[in-house]
Amino acid sequence: MGPNYLDERIMKIFIVIYLIFSSLNSYADDVAAGRAKADTACALCHGVNGLSTLPNAPNLAGQQAIYVVEQLRNYRSGKRQNEVMNMIAKNLTDSEISHLGAWFSAIKVSVETP
Ligand code: HEC
Repeated sequence: MGPNYLDERIMKIFIVIYLIFSSLNSYADDVAAGRAKADTACALCHGVNGLSTLPNAPNLAGQQAIYVVEQLRNYRSGKRQNEVMNMIAKNLTDSEISHLGAWFSAIKVSVETP
């Protein structure tokens, strides 16, 4: 243990801090990318905040990312059948799908009982 030992420890602490902040950043980037995509490709039916404007389009606000991702993959592969969603999902890339999952799950929803 000399001065080098301390340097190494400090270096490791900085690396951990860097990794934490860079992962937070990339999550924020995913949400922003998902939002931008949703605004142009999904908002017409699922609403700008994921609250649907069409009676037969489900609300996506607050939905779990893993669920959104799985449904979009299923629509894309044809495992889940719906004429409209099959057409839309066909053009989505894996990274767009994961960004969309991040966005819809990041929307905060509140529930009121009557
Ligand atoms: C033209 C209208 C329309 C557009 C645009 C649209 N959707 Fe949909 N979406 C629907 C309808 C209708 C359904 C219900 C389909 C069904 O019954 O399977 C649906 C279902 C879904 C579901 C399944 C929800 C659930 O609860 O199982 C997801 C996820 C979804 N859409 C995501 C998206 C995303 C992401 C986009 C944009 C890339 C998008 N949709 C664009 C109409 C639309």
